This record gives sequence, C-alpha cells and structure tokens, in this order.
Amino acid sequence: MSEMFVPIEWLADGKVRFLDQTRLPQEEVWVETADYERIADAIRRLEVRGAPLIGIAAAYGLALAARASRAKEDDGLRADARAAADILRSTRPTAVNLAWALDRMLALIENTCSDEARLLLLREARAIHEEDIAGNQRMGQYGAELIPADSNVMTHCNAGALATGGYGTALGVVRAAWEAGNLVHVTATETRPLLQGARLTAWELREGAIPFTLIPDSAAGLTMRRGRIGAVVVGADRIAANGDVANKIGTYQLAVLAHENEIPFYVAAPISTIDLATPTGDEIPIEERSPDEVSSVRGTDIAPQGTDVSNPAFDVTPNKYVTAIITENGVARAPYGESLRSVCEAGVPARG
Ligand code: MRU
Repeated sequence: MSEMFVPIEWLADGKVRFLDQTRLPQEEVWVETADYERIADAIRRLEVRGAPLIGIAAAYGLALAARASRAKEDDGLRADARAAADILRSTRPTAVNLAWALDRMLALIENTCSDEARLLLLREARAIHEEDIAGNQRMGQYGAELIPADSNVMTHCNAGALATGGYGTALGVVRAAWEAGNLVHVTATETRPLLQGARLTAWELREGAIPFTLIPDSAAGLTMRRGRIGAVVVGADRIAANGDVANKIGTYQLAVLAHENEIPFYVAAPISTIDLATPTGDEIPIEERSPDEVSSVRGTDIAPQGTDVSNPAFDVTPNKYVTAIITENGVARAPYGESLRSVCEAGVPARG
C-alpha cells in the first residue's frame, strides 16, 4: 500500500498541526496551534474540512481547551470543556461527525477529576483519529469489491485522506479498488464553488499516481451518457435513519443522472456519519455559506456587484437513488431503516 497521508496530528509539545487546505494545490502550508479557537476558525474557514476530519479536529480542539483551562475544580474544568465544545460545535451544522465526536468526548469526563479528564480527553481524541483511519481501510476493502472490473469511477468533492483522519472514504474505496486492479481511471468533478474536486481530489490522485480526468460539474451528464462511468462513489456529511444522504452540493444531481444512465451510485461513510436520530433528509440542517464564494473566484468578482446569491453547501439525495452505503462494518442496502441500524450496532459486518 502506498504511504498514507495524514492531514492532522497531535504534536509532542501539546500542539495540533494541520494542513491548511485552502492553500492547496499551490502551497502546502502546515499550521501549529495550542489554541482551540484557532481550530474552530480552521473548521469554519475550511482549512480543515470533510465530515470525519472536522470531528477529529474538534476532538483535538477539546483536548487543547482542557489543557489550557486553569480550572482547579473538577466542575470548573467540565464547564470550560462544555463552553469550548459549544464553540467548536457551532462552526458547521451539517456534518454530524462534529457533534458525534464532541458528545463522545464530553461523556467521558462526566465523573472524573480535572487532571484525569485532561488525560482522558487527549487519549479519546487520538482514539477517534486512529479508529477513523482503520475504519476507512476496512471500508475501502468492502467498497473495492463493488467496483466493476476495468471501470472508470466518478467522484464528487473530496472524500479522501484530506477529508478524514487518513486514507479516505469514497477515495479510500477508489484507492483500494485501484490497488486491487479493478479500477483503471477516476473522473473527478471540479465541485463549484470551492473546487474541492479540482484543488484537493486532483492533488490526492496525482500524489497517489492514480489516473484521472477532471471535468466541470456540468459535464457529468454527458460523461455518463457516453458510457464512460462504471460507478459513482461519493462521501457523506450526514445520513438520515431512512438512508437519505446529505453531501456536497451537486451530489443529488449526480445521483439522479446515475439513475437515468443505469450506473450504480455508492455512498462511502463511517458509522459516525449515520444519524439514526434524524428520521429523514428533510430534517438535516443545510449550511448556507457566504455569497462571496459564488460571486467571486479567489478574490475576483465574477458576478455584478449586488447580485442575489444562494450558496447552500450541501444537498440531500433521496435514498431511492442510493444503490448501497459502504461503511467500515459492511455494506447497507435498502431498506435502509433496517440495514443502517444493523451496521451501526454491528460487530458482525453485513456484507452485500
Ligand atoms: O464543505 P466540505 O469540503 O467540508 O464538504 C465535504 C464533503 O461534502 C465530503 O464529501 C464529505 O464531508 C465526506 S468527507 C469523507
């Protein structure tokens, strides 16, 4: 297996180091900080992004906040940790991994003294990170079996090592299928407006020496209709209990196009992305981002001043368009109400 890229790490001197993804592909700039508010800012600004990675970053952020807290009383430390968690949680609303990681961390320190809590939080953040990488590798193996021989796989946004603790979800499946020899080419959509496909997926595929072609989002239909795509594989930010999938804006139209062209449409995501408490996609909060991201490109206006802009960062793909959901515990298929519950509870993988 090729060497794995890891976009965030805890340093021995009690700082967190992360790659600023807004600077890619031009520059590889690493940021070091001991300040959890800098982590919150990085999540807000998409310096770190992708559902699993923002959960991991928030977990490390909470560990930083506990170390920085001067509280001597156990209750004081807990109050500081909860306040930091609120700030981290408020950064982005759609990816459920963020709240999942913070809740998992806070639950640990309910009944502990402050020194123990600081240790436990750091240990847990590291565990969340390590589990994510191991889970992605298992997901890759399950997913690779679904990719037809000699196929060209289309992916959207970036669901690779850069979006996770390492290895990737959708791009993890691509990586595993490439290593297994059944994938021959990737088609990456550029992913307007912030170009995660053009900037980040292209960067990762080039680093991994996996052959790929970058297309404008608007060329997806033609490319599928020309018979060039064997499967579409994307990541997810939140999967509702009924299998509706929130992912980067533009995913829904790819799913409809895949259906129209009889191409399987797979979603690869860890169980931390599955939100059984949210019944359907209609209840998933959709992040609305700054109009500037649409009306300008890297500081240059491309629309007349004052243009009314809508900039939803995610959309919801109804479960009827999803061929299967690939997790680290196996492959879930319709009816998703049952199969998602079983992969979430499973020690035993439900393979499809
Ligand atoms: O706005 P982003 O770049 O954080 O959006 C990321 C996505 O939509 C990814 O597809 C999703 O988080 C899965 S990442 C493994």
